[in-house]
Amino acid sequence: MPHSKDHFIDFRDHASSLWEKRYLCGDTPWDKGQAHPFLKKAFQNTLLSSPSLSAPLSVLVPGCGKAHDVEAIASLGHHVIGIDLSPSAIQAAQERLTPLSSQQKIELKTLDFFLPPKKQYDLIWEHTCFCAILPEQRSLYAQSAASHLNEQGKLLGVFFISDDKCTEPHQGPPFFAHIDEVQDSFAPFFNLLSHSPVDSTFPGRHGEERLFFFEKK
Ligand SMILES: C[S@@+](CC[C@H](N)C(=O)[O-])C[C@H]1O[C@@H](n2cnc3c(N)ncnc32)[C@H](O)[C@@H]1O
Repeated sequence: MPHSKDHFIDFRDHASSLWEKRYLCGDTPWDKGQAHPFLKKAFQNTLLSSPSLSAPLSVLVPGCGKAHDVEAIASLGHHVIGIDLSPSAIQAAQERLTPLSSQQKIELKTLDFFLPPKKQYDLIWEHTCFCAILPEQRSLYAQSAASHLNEQGKLLGVFFISDDKCTEPHQGPPFFAHIDEVQDSFAPFFNLLSHSPVDSTFPGRHGEERLFFFEKK
């Protein structure tokens, strides 16, 4: 049975307080204190393969946490907005990045990715937000991603991949997804342009990730 709007509002409030608690307790094993090691290469390769994307791009990073990826994308010359449900994560990111933000065009906001957007972007960078939401919300994630993008906007992201389908809710976060599940979630709203291995990553994540590149339909 489809979930009601109230179900998602309740879930969002719940998710927001759960993530906020994790940051307040310092229980954030996903935060490696640096951007994803493959981010810059992924951007360079993707921009080369996609002439419709010319720098500087406006880039949205959902679930940005303490904004290490935001910082790395800004250093490539793009205008970046990082959003996260957790006010503490955003505050920590602001304290770290404020000296750079005017120079590097960085914006940081406590905001739910699932809310209707006020602005649209050229590109979304996904890394550890898709795997943080419940598997039942993946289609909503893809729909929200499309709503945050300009015409022909793109989504580039590193996804946690498993060999098995139907990850049980109790197994995450992170919730791993089969390659087909990623494709099926995005198919109603995006065309798949490519997916490829992730050459460099954090220790312990080797072979668990795949880079996906989608274009909004
Ligand atoms: C596993 S953490 C990853 C954080 C960051 N990407 C990193 O790698 O350090 C997942 C993040 O997504 C955020 N998040 C979860 N659901 C969200 C939503 N609906 N909108 C915005 N942020 C969300 C959480 O608050 C959390 O910071």
